[in-house]
Amino acid sequence: MLDPRNAISSTLRSLGILAPRRIRAHTSVTPLGAREAYRHWASTYRTETATSCLDEELAQRMLGQLSRRRLLDAGCGVGRRIAAIPDAVGLDASPEMLAAGGARNVVAGDVRAMPFPSESFDMVWCRLVLGHLPDATNAYQELARVCCVGGHVFVTDFHSDAAAAGHRRSFTDQAGVVHEIEHYVHRDHIGIAQATGLSLVASDEGAVGTSVRRFYAQGIGLKAYRKDKGLKLVAAYLFRRMA
Ligand SMILES: C[S@@+](CC[C@H](N)C(=O)[O-])C[C@H]1O[C@@H](n2cnc3c(N)ncnc32)[C@H](O)[C@@H]1O
Repeated sequence: MLDPRNAISSTLRSLGILAPRRIRAHTSVTPLGAREAYRHWASTYRTETATSCLDEELAQRMLGQLSRRRLLDAGCGVGRRIAAIPDAVGLDASPEMLAAGGARNVVAGDVRAMPFPSESFDMVWCRLVLGHLPDATNAYQELARVCCVGGHVFVTDFHSDAAAAGHRRSFTDQAGVVHEIEHYVHRDHIGIAQATGLSLVASDEGAVGTSVRRFYAQGIGLKAYRKDKGLKLVAAYLFRRMA
């Protein structure tokens, strides 16, 4: 059972973020840890949010024709991003998320200690996961380890600008109640990655704009949309393993 003291009463649909105005109104709320949050979010997670929509746009834009022949999605959630990719493998810390997705080729596990031999994949994704970890170093070491030399690692995260503007990660449970999820801001993805032997190929950002206007229209409203327009919600990095 969710502790009702952690809930923000609302029937509004979640953007995948919680706007600052709503946080100020509920300052006593304790964010849920990722493990508990995804246990409860699993059954409705498949519904896209502004954040997940921008994440997918960035992936389409940055990954282009790069090989997905041996692909690992580390922190795959319900496995929605790999569902149509033959032989792709998923890993996630939440058995509930994996079960809700019903995907094949998935395993429960921690991105910081993955059960795969070194250099098993030529493309490794880790999308909207690392902000749930207090320290991203071990995760980057593992992402680099399981990627073959010359292969690519693609990482996205909730943008530090959105966090600085007071937005928080959130989800709406089956009862329509909004919950905040624990999040850690990592400002030096590139430096941490480079220390593990990954070299930056490209970086990009996903900002509030027309492609996510509908989430505002269905949720917190167009006044909030106009205020947030241009705010960066997602940061994305494409790395190559050099040695
Ligand atoms: C926002 S969801 C993203 C899911 C998926 N990447 C997507 O874009 O649809 C974050 C996921 O990270 C997983 N996660 C959090 N901490 C993790 C860890 N230490 N190891 C593996 N997965 C983790 C959660 O269980 C959750 O499914």
